[in-house]
Amino acid sequence: MRIPPEKIEEIRSANDIVDVISQHVRLKKRGKNFVGLCPFHQEKTPSFTVSSEKQMYHCFGCSKGGNIITFVMEFEKVSFTEAVRSLAEKAGIVISFTEVDQERQNETEALYNACRFAGLHFHTNLTKTDEGRSALEYFHQRGFSDETIRVFGLGYSLNSWDGFVLRAREEGLDRADLLKAGLIRVREDGTDYDYFRGRAMFPIFSTTGRVVGFGARKLRDDDPLGKYINSPETPIYNKSRVLFGLFHSKDAVRAQDNALMVEGYADLISLYQAGIQNVVASSGTALTEEQVQLISRYGKKLTLVYDADSAGSNATLRGMDIAFAQDLDVSIVELPEGEDPDSFIRKSGGKEFQKLLDRGMSFIDFKARQFLRTGSFATPEGKAQAVRSIVQSIAKMKDELKRNFYIKEVATKYDIYESVLYRELEKWTGERNRTGSFGAPRSDGPQRPDSNQNNVSSSVAEKKRTPVAERDLLKLVLEHPKEMLEFIFSHIAITDITDPQIRKIVEFLLSRFDERGPGEVTEIVGEITDPALKSIVTDSVMSRYELSKQWESSEGEIEVADPWMVARDAIVDMKKRGLEFQIEENRRALKDVSERGIDVQPFVLRHQELSKQLDDLKSGALFKST
Ligand code: UTP
Ligand code: MN
Repeated sequence: MRIPPEKIEEIRSANDIVDVISQHVRLKKRGKNFVGLCPFHQEKTPSFTVSSEKQMYHCFGCSKGGNIITFVMEFEKVSFTEAVRSLAEKAGIVISFTEVDQERQNETEALYNACRFAGLHFHTNLTKTDEGRSALEYFHQRGFSDETIRVFGLGYSLNSWDGFVLRAREEGLDRADLLKAGLIRVREDGTDYDYFRGRAMFPIFSTTGRVVGFGARKLRDDDPLGKYINSPETPIYNKSRVLFGLFHSKDAVRAQDNALMVEGYADLISLYQAGIQNVVASSGTALTEEQVQLISRYGKKLTLVYDADSAGSNATLRGMDIAFAQDLDVSIVELPEGEDPDSFIRKSGGKEFQKLLDRGMSFIDFKARQFLRTGSFATPEGKAQAVRSIVQSIAKMKDELKRNFYIKEVATKYDIYESVLYRELEKWTGERNRTGSFGAPRSDGPQRPDSNQNNVSSSVAEKKRTPVAERDLLKLVLEHPKEMLEFIFSHIAITDITDPQIRKIVEFLLSRFDERGPGEVTEIVGEITDPALKSIVTDSVMSRYELSKQWESSEGEIEVADPWMVARDAIVDMKKRGLEFQIEENRRALKDVSERGIDVQPFVLRHQELSKQLDDLKSGALFKST
C-alpha cells in the first residue's frame, strides 16, 4: 500500500507531536521545548526532548530522534504505513486505497480473521468441552496455571478429522482462507480435513498480538506425527520474521534492555509464568537475521539460554554472530546437562534460574570454554585457534568502539599483545587501519556534557571528532535552508566539509532544495532513511545549545545568535582550517624537497601566499564589505 506524499504531509501536519507523545510519555515544559523520560532507553533524568515548534523529538541520551511518524513507528513498533494510518485515524483523515491494494488488504485481514477464529475455537475446546479436559489436565500437570493458559491463549484441537472444518463452515468462514492459513487440508477426493488433531495448541502471535499460526504438541501415543507440528508459512506467517512470545515479552525486553532466547514453546511459557518475562523463543529453528533485528528494536542485549548438549552450543555460536552483526551485546547461559529451561524451572524454581542468569558468561568465555572442553586450549596452536575464533566473532561487530573494547578484554585475559589481535582482526574485517596504531581507540576531545556514558553509540563518538564549525553549519542549513544554503556554498565547497555524515546530509539538502525547494526540517527528517543520519539531524536541530558554545552568555543562558553572524564565523573557521592544512602539507613537502636538494622556491612562494590568505582571513577581510 502506497500513500501519496501529499497525503502523508497532510496527515503529519494534522497531528501535533506534543499531543501524540504526551499520550505515552509524561512531558514537562522546559523553555521552548518539552522534556520527559526517554521511552527508548532507560534513564533516571529526562533527556528526551520534544519541540512543538519544530515538530520533532530527540533524545540526548540515546540519540534517537525524528518526527511524529518516526515516533509512532519506533514506539508502536509498526511499519511506516501503519504509523501513517494510525495518525490519520487520530486526525480523522480518510485514506482511500486503490482497488488492488484494497484486495490484498482484505486477503490478509481474512487470514488473520481465520486464525483468530481458530484460536478461539481451540481455546474453547480446552476450557469448555469434555474432550478438552484431559488436555487441560496435561497443561496443569506441566505447571501452567489457568491464568497462564488464558494469557497465552492455549487450546486443544479435537481428536477428529472435521471438528474445526465443521465449526468454521457453520461460522461461514471462506474455505480458501482456511486453506491459505494452513488450518485445513484437502483430500484427494476434494473433501476437507483438519490439519491439527488431538493436540495441545500454542497460538503464535504477531508482534502486535494477532494470531498468525500455531504450534501443536502431541498428546497421545497413537499419534504418528512428530512431537510438535507447526503451521506452514502463510502470507501472514513468515517464520523467519516471527518470534514466539515476543508479543507478550516486548515490554519486559524493553524495560530490561535484554531478551532471553530459549528454544521451546513450553520453555518460554514456564519462564514467563515464573516472573522472568523478557523472553522469546526460536521454536527450535535456527535464529534468523530478521528475528534478531526484531529483538534489537526492543533491547540492546541478547542472552542466549541453551541446553548443554552440543547441538545447543552450535546453535548458540551461530546465534551469537548474527546478534553481533545487528549490534547486539550477547551473553550466554548454559543449563545443566539434560535440562531445558522449562524442566529446570519445574525442578528448581525461578529464583534459581535467575541465579543462572546472573552468572551468564560473555561470548569470549563461552568460546574459550568450547576449546577448553576439547582440551585444545592447552597447546599453543589450540590457544591460537581459540583466540582466532573469538576475534572472528569480534569482527562481526559493526561498532568500532565495541570491537576495540572486546579486543582489549581478550588481550588482558589471554595475555596477548593488542597489536597482534588487531592484525588478526583486520584479516576478518578487511579494514586498513586508519590510525597507524593498529586501529587502537583514539582518545578524543571533551565528552558532551549531557551524553549518556553507558550509551556509546557510534554517532556520539563520531560527533566528538566533528569540528564545531561543521556542526554549526549543519544546524544553519537545516534551520534556514533558503538563506543559508546559497550563502554558505557560495563561499565554501561541499568537499570542504570533513565530516562524511554531515557532508552526506548537506548533499541531500542541496539536491532536495533544487528539486523541491527547501522544505521544513520535520519533513526533511522524515525523508532521511539512514537512522544514523536522522539522529544527527535531530540532534543538531534540537541541540540544547542554540549554536556552538561560544554563543553562550556568561550566565550559561542560551542566547539566540544571529544566524548570519554564525554562518560567517563557520565559513571563516572552515576556510582557516583548510588553509592551515594546506600550509602544513606544503611545509612537509618543502622539508622533503630541501633534503633532496631540489629547488625550494616554489614551495616558499606558496607558503607566503597561503600565509597571507590566512592572515587576511584572521583580520576579517572576507566579510568586511557585507
Ligand atoms: P524440544 O524437542 O526441545 O521440545 O524442541 P520442548 O520444547 O522441550 O517440548 P516439551 O517440553 O517436551 O513440550 C524445542 C522446540 O522445537 C520445536 C518446538 O518449537 C519446540 O518447542 N519443535 C520440536 C518442533 O517444531 N517440532 C518438533 O518435532 C520438535
Ligand atoms: Mn521441554
